[in-house]
Amino acid sequence: MITLNVNGVDYALLVDNRWSLADVLREKLGLTGTKTGCDRGECGSCAVLVDGVPMLSCMLLACSVSGRKITTIEGIGSVGNLDKLQQAFVNNEGIQCGICIPGIIVVSKALLEKNPKPTEDEVKEALSGNLCKCGNWPFIVKSVLEAAK
Ligand code: FES
Ligand code: FES
Repeated sequence: MITLNVNGVDYALLVDNRWSLADVLREKLGLTGTKTGCDRGECGSCAVLVDGVPMLSCMLLACSVSGRKITTIEGIGSVGNLDKLQQAFVNNEGIQCGICIPGIIVVSKALLEKNPKPTEDEVKEALSGNLCKCGNWPFIVKSVLEAAK
């Protein structure tokens, strides 16, 4: 049995010791906004915040984060109540296929919490662990910079 606080809601869950946090979020809680692109720590699409720090949920055993506070893309904004980052991505065509975007938004959220006015280089550095196979980088970076205005 593990406990998690996910997006402000407390859960007590029976999970297999081998399950990753990504598996639990997606399969047990139905929070499919967190994407699993590679499932081996290479793409960043599964990033979530663990106590406010971006981490790769495919590389974390769920049992290793028992008792921690998890924020997924579903906890950052919602339809009709977009976070300023999400709105900036809409404004700047920062989204193409979209699979990388939840991880990028989550990592950007943590960046702006720590550094509300990042430079372009700081945005690129923060997102260096996130891959976008659509190659939409100029618009992704522009979106994060707009959200920081
Ligand atoms: S799915 Fe976790 S890093 Fe790719
Ligand atoms: S928008 Fe398609 S992978 Fe990034």
